[in-house]
Amino acid sequence: MITPTWCPRRLHALGDAEIGELADVLIDCVEGGASVSFMQPLSRDRALAFWRGVARAVAAGERALLVAEDAHGVCGTVQLVLDQPENQPHRADLTKTLVHRRARRQGLGAALMRAAETAARECGKTLLVLDAVTGGDGARLYERLGWVRVGDIPGYALMPRGGLCSTTVYYRDVGDQRCAVRSGRR
Ligand SMILES: CC(C)(COP(=O)(O)OP(=O)(O)OC[C@H]1O[C@@H](n2cnc3c(N)ncnc32)[C@H](O)[C@@H]1OP(=O)(O)O)[C@@H](O)C(=O)NCCC(=O)NCCS
Repeated sequence: MITPTWCPRRLHALGDAEIGELADVLIDCVEGGASVSFMQPLSRDRALAFWRGVARAVAAGERALLVAEDAHGVCGTVQLVLDQPENQPHRADLTKTLVHRRARRQGLGAALMRAAETAARECGKTLLVLDAVTGGDGARLYERLGWVRVGDIPGYALMPRGGLCSTTVYYRDVGDQRCAVRSGRR
């Protein structure tokens, strides 16, 4: 199989078409068993309502949203929560890394993460924080990309079909690498 070259892009406004395609990706991930805030079954109305809320936050500049597309439309996405307390202006939370099952294991998750890091720097953010189901597909992706593991919180959330799972908290310094080298930090 030829591996696609992914070109994630930042959306500054979402129309009904994008919201519908993002809802499809979210529903597919939850149906596939991903613990991403929702229980099964996730109705289309609930998924659409979630993305409409994200659209409002994007329009308000509170979130940065990245998407990647294939021939069928949006197949992957990730968000940065930019709106943080006034004593943490340099920080963002990275959330909802979602790849439709049709596009998995072709490097899209990694491409989305790298694009999110670039977008974070463009937004003046130098510290990213996220959490992921302990030992899950997301955690493996983040560790492969060099995110620093902080620790596990047992019994943090429910899996979409029920049953508690542990979450692992990660962070990543995405500050200017040249400055990091000059100051001896890595
Ligand atoms: C986690 C998730 C985003 C990863 O997306 P992805 O596009 O499959 O990620 P990648 O393709 O970059 O990497 C996934 C695997 O495919 C492998 N891979 C990447 N390109 C490949 C290629 N061309 N050929 C074969 N394998 C490849 C990677 O090495 C990695 O292997 P590993 O899991 O054994 O370490 C995706 O599984 C997902 O959306 N899961 C459901 C939602 C979720 O849990 N999100 C995380 C919330 S914290």
